Amino acid sequence: MSRIILKEIGPVSESVQLEPHPDLTLGPADVLVEMEAAGINLTDFRLAEGTYTERVRPSLPSAMGTEGVGRVIAAGTTADPSLVGRRVVFLPNYLQGTWADRTVAPASSVIPVGEKADAQQLALLAVNPATAYGLLNRYATLGPGDWIGQDMGNSAVGRNVIALAHHAGVRTLSVVRREETVKQLLDQGADLVVVGGAGKDDVDGLRDRIADALGDTTFRLVFDGVGGPVAGALAHSLEFGGQVISYSSLTHTPVAVPAADLVYRELGVRGYWLINWIRTAPRAEIEAVYTELAELVEQGVLHTPVEETFALADYRAAFDRARKPQREGKILFHFGA
Ligand SMILES: NC(=O)c1ccc[n+]([C@@H]2O[C@H](COP(=O)([O-])OP(=O)(O)OC[C@H]3O[C@@H](n4cnc5c(N)ncnc54)[C@H](OP(=O)(O)O)[C@@H]3O)[C@@H](O)[C@H]2O)c1
Repeated sequence: MSRIILKEIGPVSESVQLEPHPDLTLGPADVLVEMEAAGINLTDFRLAEGTYTERVRPSLPSAMGTEGVGRVIAAGTTADPSLVGRRVVFLPNYLQGTWADRTVAPASSVIPVGEKADAQQLALLAVNPATAYGLLNRYATLGPGDWIGQDMGNSAVGRNVIALAHHAGVRTLSVVRREETVKQLLDQGADLVVVGGAGKDDVDGLRDRIADALGDTTFRLVFDGVGGPVAGALAHSLEFGGQVISYSSLTHTPVAVPAADLVYRELGVRGYWLINWIRTAPRAEIEAVYTELAELVEQGVLHTPVEETFALADYRAAFDRARKPQREGKILFHFGA
């Protein structure tokens, strides 16, 4: 048995290590979970490096890994005994580490899921599909025929937005920075995909290509994970009073919406962080959303491409791969045989 722990804040190449034989003593309200698979996200690195947010502060040493799927093999004295034997996904609440053969977690951190779905897809359920669900459901009541715009369309968040929107009849225009991802997204149900935003000079052209592709229609909402002027290029085609929802800034620059769009069309800019929802929403709502998302995975509606899986012992190679740009999918840890 082993797990990956964060010893100190710093680059993951130096700050994490494989800990053999971790203490797996159960508290009364805990469960012991044998892991099947666990996802690696860019925020895991930012957490280790101390560049994520002051709203998540790991107490060192800290077990690493935010999302994953496994099977409950024991329950503490006050935890629900019916969880034993159930397959579960973990809420991304930073109360346990999923990069481990076995992990101890509060029973309130796990949500039972079905047996049929692919383990890798369930391991990727807790963060990005739930984020896409929040983006699509929290800020407007979207209906069939409504349009949303987004950048980073080929990211895991972007692909889940496309899949959930397509399932609901909501139409999507996605900006990507690589031509080779266009067909993948169209095959997955994207309505329009526009290439651009890789360089600053391209932004006016990108704004016009988005508007031309949309024709007479406008976006109800825009989802931005890139920051800077790309969000502004999409915001130019927002409806009067529409909102840009910022959920990340991979360019480390603020959302830049030109004043002429912001002022005269009274646009709004809002932020979204999944963890706020996890921390504040009623348990019944959280269970209902994850149960619905797990069923959509089982039905094949939600599918996130996976580039490669690694054994826990090969974590350094896994991290190198996960940090690489232009990946063809997510990187995961697999466990067991
Ligand atoms: N607010 C929240 O609650 C929340 C929840 C989940 C995720 N997030 C954030 O969402 C972002 C995406 O996460 P993910 O797991 O979906 O990502 P992912 O699947 O790992 O994909 C990364 C994406 O980022 C693009 N990218 C990387 N650097 C870029 C840059 N400098 N400019 C433009 N695009 C760039 C990549 O494009 P290429 O393929 O062309 O390299 C790819 O589309 C992360 O920043 C994550 O922290 C936020």
